[in-house]
Amino acid sequence: MRKLFTIVLLAFLAIEASAQSDPNMGIIPAPVSVKKNSGTFKLDKTVVLISNEPKNSRMADLLNAFVTTKGGFALREVKSESANEKAIILTSEGADQMPAEGYKINITDKKITITGKEAGLFYAVQSIMQLMPEKQNNEILVPAAEINDYPRFKYRGLHLDVSRHFFPVALVKKYIDVMSQYKLNNFHWHLTDDQGWRLEIKKYPKLTSVGGSRNGTIIGHHPGVGTDNKEYKGFYTQDEVKEVLAYAAARFINVVPEIELPGHASAAIAAYPELSCFPERDTFIDPKTPWSGSRKGKQVQQQFGVFDDVFVPNDNTFKFLENVLDEVIALFPSKYIHIGGDECPKEYWKQSEFCQKLIKKLNLKDEHGLQSYFIQRIEKHVNKRGRSVIGWDEILEGGLAPNATVMSWRGTEGGIAAAKQNHDVIMTPNAGGLYFDHKQSNSPDEPTNIGGFAPYTSSYAYDPMPKELNADQQKYVIGVQANLWTEYIQTPVKVEYMIIPRVFSLAEIAWSQAERKDLKNFSEQRLPLHLARLDKSETNYWVPAPIGLNEKVLNGENFNLELKAPVEGSKIYYTLDLTRPSINGNLYTNGVKVIVPKGEKRILKTVVITPSGKQSVVTETILNNGAADVKAK
Ligand code: ACM
Repeated sequence: MRKLFTIVLLAFLAIEASAQSDPNMGIIPAPVSVKKNSGTFKLDKTVVLISNEPKNSRMADLLNAFVTTKGGFALREVKSESANEKAIILTSEGADQMPAEGYKINITDKKITITGKEAGLFYAVQSIMQLMPEKQNNEILVPAAEINDYPRFKYRGLHLDVSRHFFPVALVKKYIDVMSQYKLNNFHWHLTDDQGWRLEIKKYPKLTSVGGSRNGTIIGHHPGVGTDNKEYKGFYTQDEVKEVLAYAAARFINVVPEIELPGHASAAIAAYPELSCFPERDTFIDPKTPWSGSRKGKQVQQQFGVFDDVFVPNDNTFKFLENVLDEVIALFPSKYIHIGGDECPKEYWKQSEFCQKLIKKLNLKDEHGLQSYFIQRIEKHVNKRGRSVIGWDEILEGGLAPNATVMSWRGTEGGIAAAKQNHDVIMTPNAGGLYFDHKQSNSPDEPTNIGGFAPYTSSYAYDPMPKELNADQQKYVIGVQANLWTEYIQTPVKVEYMIIPRVFSLAEIAWSQAERKDLKNFSEQRLPLHLARLDKSETNYWVPAPIGLNEKVLNGENFNLELKAPVEGSKIYYTLDLTRPSINGNLYTNGVKVIVPKGEKRILKTVVITPSGKQSVVTETILNNGAADVKAK
């Protein structure tokens, strides 16, 4: 018992020592500056909490609820300071001079002063909650420090596709919680696509009664092994949307709704076939996919991909879209309305006599010109309502709409081109580690995913500011976003698995100054702390491989591998006999010593098991001493 106590105590002290040595005091994303001072603020139940402006009392309550959970005591909230009381003070005095969303925290022996206004104060509270160590003997010892912080980019976004799979309001709120805790401020809600229309539009009820439901989902990776043939449906009522919007606004998150046009429109067309170039065609039947072979009539897509049946650019369609957008605009306060614009095949427009005549009549060059006309006409309507459009980077083709913001997803080129045309840009390149539907490791243990490889280190490595732009052009890069497409994500727990910890990398590249980037500190000090906290909660996450090991070949004869737990409190198990590591394997304690004879190799397999029982994928490392079947690097 005594021994166990000693081990627990040592582990605890190790965690505390790691927190003390962290130059970022455990905060993700890393602040602009952290200056550590000598001294400690002893947070105990005698401390008072002061917020002298009524508008800040919500933040005081937020902090107090946190202290109550963490320390087991609630702080007395008072209006003003008195000489002998230790205090935490929340104030907006002096915050007008700070950069937008910025804040300062000053921790001394006597008081903690938190300065900021609105979002800034909210973010300050997030930081103070993150830096607070665990309690010891009924007090929380907060090290003295001065923190100054503000964001690098004003648009810090995370996207969620709710068309391919639908997620309940509870998951959306949890998503917003995570975003706000890590200082992201734009939730891009991808509400419509081929596989389902998910937003109630009162004027067009069939959008959700027909377009919100499909008669099956492919099983496995596209083209899959067939379909489950089960009805799959779901949509958000406007009342539910209002609930989400209020929840997001309270956390300083703007919600950008996306209504896809002119492509990815087949759910809308299933509901209202007259929106197609060829209303009579049984267009959703793809002879290459036997499970949909002979079905007649319009239906919502149950397979994943890009489809030729897109909106016909006639007056009826524009009227329809304007009415839809008017309801969207009435519902969502966002300055930005996302109108899609990506992956719109031109095949039906080529085949359509109406479209060909329209191209001639408008003196357009080709179908790309028609896409540009489509986007510009929609933009005009949205601008008339006082809002701005965002579109995926295909909206550059055939000429950019005059006021549009471009989301650069196919690479960085679209963003660079748009910035050079003095258009605002949000960077979200699919090869930049920002497509969170890509796999997080090369292990076969990863759940079914769309492909691609985007470990959190790739997300972390990406710099949203293209080097190709000069200082003037760089001003148009307003931010960065990661996207979660959900073709292969059916459940809320898998949503969590796919975004965490990559969302922490996103937060850091979106918020922190480029020169504050430090992968070693991020992955070896802060990530293990944040993941350990999550491990105690109901939130799922991807468990990293042991620190000190990558999936690679190591060459040598005498190996002495030093590993560290990627989640504080987790255990590493390993094998060298080719079996799968588990609690029945070797428990890593202090180094793996292996001697490999000349011409041979050993395969070190590791797995991490967290205190809650979550497991990492198995990582394999070849310890090679010139084996014939191992390629030299
Ligand atoms: C996209 O990923 N199709 C924008």
